[in-house]
Amino acid sequence: MIPGDSFRHDGQPPALTEDERRLVADFTRLYYRHWHHDSRGGSGSVSIGWLGWLAQKCPTDLWTCQEIMVETRPDIIIETGTCLGGSGLFMAHLCDMLGQGQVISVDITRNEGLPEHPRLTYITGDSAAPGVVAEVKARIPAGARVMVILDSDHRAPHVTAELAAYAELVTQGCYLIVEDGVVNGNPVLPEYGPGPLEALHEFVAANPHFVIDRSRQRFLLTMSPDGFLRRVA
Ligand SMILES: C[S@@+](CC[C@H](N)C(=O)[O-])C[C@H]1O[C@@H](n2cnc3c(N)ncnc32)[C@H](O)[C@@H]1O
Repeated sequence: MIPGDSFRHDGQPPALTEDERRLVADFTRLYYRHWHHDSRGGSGSVSIGWLGWLAQKCPTDLWTCQEIMVETRPDIIIETGTCLGGSGLFMAHLCDMLGQGQVISVDITRNEGLPEHPRLTYITGDSAAPGVVAEVKARIPAGARVMVILDSDHRAPHVTAELAAYAELVTQGCYLIVEDGVVNGNPVLPEYGPGPLEALHEFVAANPHFVIDRSRQRFLLTMSPDGFLRRVA
């Protein structure tokens, strides 16, 4: 399948009234409450099926991921948080259609029966452990365009450690996606404690190489508010 060129991504999220903002937050809470699984240290997301494989993602976020991949054409996609492999497989299939790209997916637990695909490689271990980071780095060919998606343990200290380890691997023009910033009252699970959103805000404030691309939130429903970071330098 040859990707087309009739679609140009230009959409900033619409300017919302206060009432509309409340509506989006209410719907996000409703969505999360109905499809939410385990809330700490791992899943904390919603589940959908991709070709019969469970993916813990919101459909609008997967669509955004697809648009980003088509526009930026990464050679390597690093995903922390494999779970049951659905999101990794989704991206591997997109790579098939784009004719380029490999997915490296890291999880502290290797679940049974993960999907197999020639463009999808699994690494087992703590995504922030130096040995695991070194193993990931060793799989990146020189000159590759790299995209990173952080979707493992969502507690802020772990996300901060992942940002320290993986952000530098992202190539200019490509994306670093920090998933599940909705927790800690943004607007779900107010009791969660500091999570991805708090970690990424601190990271962006200190790191001029990345900007928050809010145009990636134009569908309004996202589990990753402010989580689409573009490397600009
Ligand atoms: C939200 S799920 C990943 C969902 C998956 N990306 C998807 O969309 O289907 C989070 C995963 O992170 C893993 N995890 C938790 N702590 C981790 C860590 N320190 N290092 C790597 N993976 C971790 C859990 O085992 C769990 O499978």
